[in-house]
Amino acid sequence: MTAAIDIRAVEKRFGNINIIRDLNLSVAKGERHAIIGPNGAGKSTTFNLISGHLKPTSGEIRLNGEVISGLRPFEVNRRGLSRSFQVTNVFAKMTVWENVRCAVLWATGHRYAFWKNVDELPEVRRRTAEILEDIHLIHRRDVPAGLLTYAEQRELEIGITIAGGADVIMLDEPTAGMSHAETERAVALIRRLTEGRTLVIVEHDMSVVFGLADRISVLVYGHIIASGTPEQVRGDPKVKEAYLGEEAH
Ligand SMILES: Nc1ncnc2c1ncn2[C@@H]1O[C@H](COP(=O)(O)OP(=O)(O)OP(=O)(O)O)[C@@H](O)[C@H]1O
Ligand SMILES: [Mg+2]
Repeated sequence: MTAAIDIRAVEKRFGNINIIRDLNLSVAKGERHAIIGPNGAGKSTTFNLISGHLKPTSGEIRLNGEVISGLRPFEVNRRGLSRSFQVTNVFAKMTVWENVRCAVLWATGHRYAFWKNVDELPEVRRRTAEILEDIHLIHRRDVPAGLLTYAEQRELEIGITIAGGADVIMLDEPTAGMSHAETERAVALIRRLTEGRTLVIVEHDMSVVFGLADRISVLVYGHIIASGTPEQVRGDPKVKEAYLGEEAH
């Protein structure tokens, strides 16, 4: 079967440093795949390469069998891939409702125009309400997003990422900075919202990784040193070495 994401021999050079080195990764359709690795390993860079925010220096990336490396972010998005950023990325002055509506409008092909009252489009209103119910933020619909708690902002961002109905969802450290209880809530949310879709998640919290992922890839210095089921990765001596090396510092 065609992989959802297929990365072949990708390199990314910044200046004269190869940040991503011979990266090969295949994520099956419907799989939940976690990318883990030390700070600065190149996890976010990998996300940027897949989503079109960066172009590979060499190599090829496919989405559902179609080459996407070299396309711009909105073009990759149009082909069914949606991602969130490591740093919260919501419109602070817009209300929760407007933030989600914006994503819904984009997904349904509507373009914002000041002379159109977009709230009068019934399918947009219905879908926006549905997403806000789903992410448990309907009671906060009229609050400017910048006034939400940090965890609520992250949940809103997850909601916006999935609002477009993309088949492939990529989340970069969605639970970073959350309390234990908030993390559990967010994981339940992610699990529910990505049901039947492909998920690629970057995460430092190992309880989240091992609780959510079908497969895990370990990225160290821009190269995947191990890839497999949670059990395979847990038992891999190369992984232990990389992480013990980290702990020693
Ligand atoms: N645009 C850029 N120009 C130059 N160097 C960059 C650029 N973006 C990232 N880097 C470097 O690439 C390396 C990988 O960064 P990246 O953000 O991908 O790591 P990461 O694995 O996501 O780390 P973290 O766990 O801290 O989020 C770092 O050394 C970083 O400084
Ligand atoms: Mg990162």
